[in-house]
Amino acid sequence: MHQRFPRDFTWGVATSAFQIEGAADLHGRGESIWDVFCRRPGAVKDGSDGRVATDSLRRRREDLALMRELGVGAYRLSVAWPRVLPHGTGRVSEPGLDAYDRLVDELLAAGVDPWVTLYHWDLPQVLEARGGWPVRATAEAFADYAEVVARRLGDRVRHWITINEPWCAAMLGYQAGVHAPGRMSWPDALAASHHLLLAHGLGVQAVRSAAPDAQVGITLNFTPAWPASASAADAEAARWFDAWFNRWYLEPVCGRGYPADQLAAYQALGLTAPGQPAWLRPGDLATIAVPTDFLGVNFYTRAICRGDEEGNLPRVLQEPGPEARTDIGWEVHPASLGRLLRRLGRTYAGPLVVTECGAAWHDGPGADGRIHDARRTAYLAAHLDEAAAAVADGVPLRGWFTWSLIDNFEWAEGTTQRFGLAWVDPVTLRRTLKESGRWYGTRVRAGGR
Ligand code: FCB
Repeated sequence: MHQRFPRDFTWGVATSAFQIEGAADLHGRGESIWDVFCRRPGAVKDGSDGRVATDSLRRRREDLALMRELGVGAYRLSVAWPRVLPHGTGRVSEPGLDAYDRLVDELLAAGVDPWVTLYHWDLPQVLEARGGWPVRATAEAFADYAEVVARRLGDRVRHWITINEPWCAAMLGYQAGVHAPGRMSWPDALAASHHLLLAHGLGVQAVRSAAPDAQVGITLNFTPAWPASASAADAEAARWFDAWFNRWYLEPVCGRGYPADQLAAYQALGLTAPGQPAWLRPGDLATIAVPTDFLGVNFYTRAICRGDEEGNLPRVLQEPGPEARTDIGWEVHPASLGRLLRRLGRTYAGPLVVTECGAAWHDGPGADGRIHDARRTAYLAAHLDEAAAAVADGVPLRGWFTWSLIDNFEWAEGTTQRFGLAWVDPVTLRRTLKESGRWYGTRVRAGGR
């Protein structure tokens, strides 16, 4: 199936600051929660960290050359908050801002449109020390930071994403403790989820005040929930998962407030106090529901949900699916992307952009020096087919960013997971386009056909 995408469709690749930049000590950069988390024994699978990563701040011309080879028209990157504001608030690091200024100019000169994410998980550690995302002041600090960046780059950057994947930042960071800052508290995680969404709303206003023509959105990650069987318990498990993972973020952004069923479920389980949550102040829901210009959609997999008879929390067991899995263990299930895009087309009143989709497989250079990663190509082809079919059904999908331009630091998985369209040699950091990258480039040049 080779269907058409609109002529003005945006084709891109995505990365994030902590995963690629390196140059940890340049520009007087402050520490982020991820610098600290990486030093915690056992926190990152292979003990790696982001000090060098793919060294992309210094090697930005090499990355740009890859983008030219791919022929993409857009690059989703993130700005590191502690590189711009080493103390989280207050004094701006001009050299830090200059680094992004240069990058933006070089991208534009190469015909690549920068899409800038303001928060991709690297909270300044000084703000975590003052309470982190569970405290409201962090959302207010984010708005000030967003304004600083938009004032400098807003004359050239047309597309902005406030927050990347608030579910991950809140739940993996503050409830499961498997991402920075590694805390484990439901009440804190729920407060964090709210302040991340509040930061989004305040951030949209801040970016627009500095750059009135900016197109601003948020990126949410979605994992569609499928019940393991037709039983009532499994249906409830799927409802719980969907509300916890997807609806808790989508509904407030779409102006519907927090899902009442899930708030009641959290209260019944004692995960948050009864009554109106202390973190929810008058006006917050309106701030979060600020109209946005697009919704960023990150998609990788689905969840098959079975009710946990033991009543453990969350009362959902994720089951392995019948389909193949990527190295990171995520089931390959393209139909879930199509279903998701149709659902979002009905729920969100505006254009959608896939801001991340991709697959981890370790395939490296073969005897011929080329990287034959046919599984990644098949993954992308199947997911693009689903996207094209959704477009044909009238879903207003306007862009696609493959995760990721290059193999990079995969958070708690360290360097063990390779998502890149380009291979990065672990010693020399030399980049080589994989066969999937060549395939994606051909597809991009043909307008997605
Ligand atoms: C997403 C993150 C991104 C990357 C991919 C694999 O959740 O936004 O940084 O780690 O997963």
